[in-house]
Amino acid sequence: MSLKTPYITNQYPKTLLLGVHAPYNHIKNINSYFEEFINLAKTNKVQNYETLFIKLRDLDSSHFLTKGKLDEVKDFCKKHAIEQLIISEMITPLQERNLSDYFDCDVFDRTQLILEIFEKAAHSAEGKAQVGIAMLQYQKTRLAGKGIYLAQQTGVKGMRGGYGETAKEKEKRHIENTMLKLERQLEQLQKTRITQRKKRLSSGIPQICIIGYTNAGKSTILNTLTKSNVLAEDKLFATLDTTTRELFVNSKKIGTISDTVGFIQQLPPHLIEAFKSTLSELQHADLLMHVVDISDENWEDHLRVVHDILDQIGVQKEMVYVFNKIDKIENIDNLSGALHKYQPQVFINALNKDTVQQLRDFLADWSQNHLPKDTNLPIDTTNH
Ligand code: GTP
Repeated sequence: MSLKTPYITNQYPKTLLLGVHAPYNHIKNINSYFEEFINLAKTNKVQNYETLFIKLRDLDSSHFLTKGKLDEVKDFCKKHAIEQLIISEMITPLQERNLSDYFDCDVFDRTQLILEIFEKAAHSAEGKAQVGIAMLQYQKTRLAGKGIYLAQQTGVKGMRGGYGETAKEKEKRHIENTMLKLERQLEQLQKTRITQRKKRLSSGIPQICIIGYTNAGKSTILNTLTKSNVLAEDKLFATLDTTTRELFVNSKKIGTISDTVGFIQQLPPHLIEAFKSTLSELQHADLLMHVVDISDENWEDHLRVVHDILDQIGVQKEMVYVFNKIDKIENIDNLSGALHKYQPQVFINALNKDTVQQLRDFLADWSQNHLPKDTNLPIDTTNH
């Protein structure tokens, strides 16, 4: 006699990925913006989804979408039996609630999606505390719902408006207490970071920080330059925790090199705030190596996003532009007009160590002016 098959709940609710071309979005190529949104969802392991892309001429303060679009999306949801909807934009808690009622399904926004990805990618105590604080800040404004990923795992829909006032108050208190604990923990971790930084600065060894848009190839460059094995994946935000390595060029140590968290357009402000301490390392860098995926049609928009975030956190440093993934473009000359503005610059394919030589040469020259004169830096014997 065989056992009865257990009842299987729907592990992956039918999801609508709703890409919105909002009036404030002046990106050159909206299709690759939508593609990036789909990749974010896939990185967060969203499966079983439909896609719908719409252009908005106006924004509605209570529903985000204007009336005609609301009905179009509602019909789509009905036709495809949509159980949860993820919108490519940041929306207010009120808009989220109203959309949820209108479409009769759970609604999640861009911030929730990015926070969940960051939560999965954080490994160090500092990274976890930073993401934890950002998530709690966000949850405080939306005291209901379970999250996209969790809803998929349990097959249970988030609770919409089902909380009594007392339960809400209780949850709010709980969130505030947990945030306080995490903030204290983070303070301690930051003290350690500051001590380490002081030590490093007093040694006078130059520090190079790799920055750039998510998926530009930062970890790959770090690996190629240092022959290390940092996680490099075709996934957004594979790197959250800073990795620092010694950097040798022509067998001579020229400094340390660190990988940093990838940037993305419309990064939730909570996350920028939470990652300020990690990003504050950039304030102490001697050189920023700005990696740009030149094969992406929106490379210049991405480059600007990085500059904007640096402005927001008040970082102004010497910078070299590392235009990466040249193997993926047919004719670099077609781009040269726009590229000219960004100097100094090197062009590489991070997967090919021969093309990376151009970057090594730049670093060798740069280090001539930045190495402390009276320091006997170690010689590398592993022949990098
Ligand atoms: P985040 O962690 O999201 O910030 O990404 P990252 O900037 O560290 O990018 P990563 O090094 O993880 O590379 C992203 C993907 O691009 C990986 O699949 C790499 O193998 C690939 N990649 C990196 N550099 C090149 C290159 O020069 N050419 C090609 N074709 N692929 C590359």
